[in-house]
Amino acid sequence: MANNSTSHSNGNVPFKDFLKMIKNEHENIKDWKHRFNAAFEKKDRDEMSRIANSTIRSAALHADSEEVSVYKALEQHGFKEQADKDRRDHQHVKQLMSKLEQTSINDSLEHFHKLFNEACDLFIKHADDEEDPNVHGSLVQLRNKVSDERAAEIGEQFLKARKMAPERPHPEAPQGGGMAQKAAAAVTKATDMFTSANHDYAQPKHDFPSVRT
Ligand SMILES: [Fe+2]
Ligand SMILES: [Fe+2]
Repeated sequence: MANNSTSHSNGNVPFKDFLKMIKNEHENIKDWKHRFNAAFEKKDRDEMSRIANSTIRSAALHADSEEVSVYKALEQHGFKEQADKDRRDHQHVKQLMSKLEQTSINDSLEHFHKLFNEACDLFIKHADDEEDPNVHGSLVQLRNKVSDERAAEIGEQFLKARKMAPERPHPEAPQGGGMAQKAAAAVTKATDMFTSANHDYAQPKHDFPSVRT
C-alpha cells in the first residue's frame, strides 16, 4: 500500500503531517460546537443551520478519509486493535450525525440543539481519544512510530481520500477501508455533492484544502 511516490522536495512536510491536519479538523468541530451553542443562546437559526451543515459534512469527510488512509496505516504499523476501536467509534458518530441531518431545525429548536450536541460530543470524545496517548491515542502512537516522511505520506493519502469521501454520513456503508468502501463512496459522492450545493456553510477556524480541487 505504502509507496515512495510522494514528493517532499517542497519542504512541506509539517503541513502534510497527518496528525497536524487531523488535529486541525478536530479543532474545527470543537470550535463549531462552541459557536453553535452561542447561536442557540441568541436563537439565531440561520447560523445554527450553517454550523450544523458544516459539522455534518466535515465529520463525514473526516471519518471516511481516516478509515481509508490513516486507519489502514494503523493496521500496517501494528495497531489493528486501535483501528478496530476507532472504526466502531466512527459508526456511532455517523449514526448520530445521520439522525441530526434528518432532523429539521424548524420542528423544534431545543430538540435540534440537543441532537447536535449529542453528535458533536461523541465526535469530540473520539477525537480526544485519538489524540491522547494516556487514554487510547491511536494517532499519536502511530505518529511516534513513523518517520516525518512517512507521516507526510499518510497525510497525502488522507487528503487524497478526502476528495473521494462522501459528504454526508452513511452509517450503513462499509468502513473497512478497502475497495468496498471506495466503491460505495463513489456511488454516493455525486448525490452528496448535489445536496451540499443546496446548503449554506459556516467558516472553519482552520482552513482546510477544498474537497473539489
Ligand atoms: Fe477518527
Ligand atoms: Fe479524527
